[in-house]
Amino acid sequence: MVTVLVTGGAGFIGSNFIRFMLDSHKTYSIINLDQLTYAGNLENLRDIETNANYSFFRGNICDRSLVERIVSENNIDYIVNFAAESHVDRSIKDPEIFIKSNVLGTQVLLDAAQKYNLNKFVQISTDEVYGSLGSTGYFTENTPLSPNSPYSASKASADLLVRAYYKTFGLNVNITRCSNNYGPYQFPEKLIPLMIYNAINGKKIPVYGDGLNIRDWLHVNDHCSAIDSVLQNGKIGEVYNIGGNNEKTNIDIVKTIIKILSEKLPERDISESLISFIEDRKGHDRRYAIDATKIDQELGWKPQIVFEDGIRMTVDWYLNNKHWLNSIINEDYRNYYQKVYGGL
Ligand code: NAD
Ligand code: TYD
Repeated sequence: MVTVLVTGGAGFIGSNFIRFMLDSHKTYSIINLDQLTYAGNLENLRDIETNANYSFFRGNICDRSLVERIVSENNIDYIVNFAAESHVDRSIKDPEIFIKSNVLGTQVLLDAAQKYNLNKFVQISTDEVYGSLGSTGYFTENTPLSPNSPYSASKASADLLVRAYYKTFGLNVNITRCSNNYGPYQFPEKLIPLMIYNAINGKKIPVYGDGLNIRDWLHVNDHCSAIDSVLQNGKIGEVYNIGGNNEKTNIDIVKTIIKILSEKLPERDISESLISFIEDRKGHDRRYAIDATKIDQELGWKPQIVFEDGIRMTVDWYLNNKHWLNSIINEDYRNYYQKVYGGL
């Protein structure tokens, strides 16, 4: 039995990763450590919670004694660290928690990995650590780190700590840096689920600035298979970029979602008139684009889901899981929305 400690496994990507691993590796045991912040939701794991190879601990990755207890008592072989504050807009309003969870929390996990001599520590990072591109070029693993938001600065800091534990202590590590993910169970503060929720509820669709910022979108299942490849076969100490080779402007994404929804729900008046261009996000990165040649050539990984299919499957998922979406729209969420979007 191989035992993997997944942190942040009740969030968007973590929950998809746990489901992916339980499906792909029947002899793996997965332990999920998650604090259940506003973004953590055990509903994301309802279908697998009774799987004999899965168990859950509620707790903070900054809690050293808890982390050490879980690692030492469960024969953990690997840690895959997803746990983080993950939303740029929240990091602009309140950066401190990003430093605590994303930086200090990562250090606690690294210490435990080192103390108990684990096989490998995989840090789930982001392309945002590289900063922003102009209209040409791609991020490679050698692009200098140049983060612009408190979120990306906290992720870059964590990456540097992971590197330091490899160089100084010889800890077996990998870092993955993926582009924007989309798919089921994404919290409706991020672009795609927020646009879907607002459109089906006849609410304004807030687009920052001119809507021409570019992101490289990857289906979450493809991200999960890439992480699994790195976990199994990634060369120790290496960074792997993960991307979809799928650059879209934000306004393109929004119009695509509106078009799909207007076809699926003709009785609702879903049209581009819902779009509202609002004041730009502070420090808004213009373009992200990943060069994923290294993971392709070294590990044979390629994305499998084409965007046109993936976005339709995703819209269908949110339409079929309205109770999931609606259960998230509570007072906390409304306060957040008011804080970021004002009266919109
Ligand atoms: P998410 O916000 O949906 O989930 C984060 C999870 O971490 C939640 O379940 C939350 O409860 C948990 N968590 C937060 N702080 C914690 C703490 N201190 N201790 C324990 N648990 C804690 O985020 P996501 O979109 O699933 O992202 C997961 C990881 O992937 C993050 O590290 C993020 O930086 C990275 N990433 C995300 C994307 C993306 O497009 N969403 C792209 C590249 C990388
Ligand atoms: P987001 O999903 O927050 O991911 P990230 O900022 O980490 O890339 O945003 C994706 C893009 O969509 C980004 O350029 C900001 C833009 N955006 C809007 O225009 N309006 C919104 O309400 C949100 C949440 C994002």
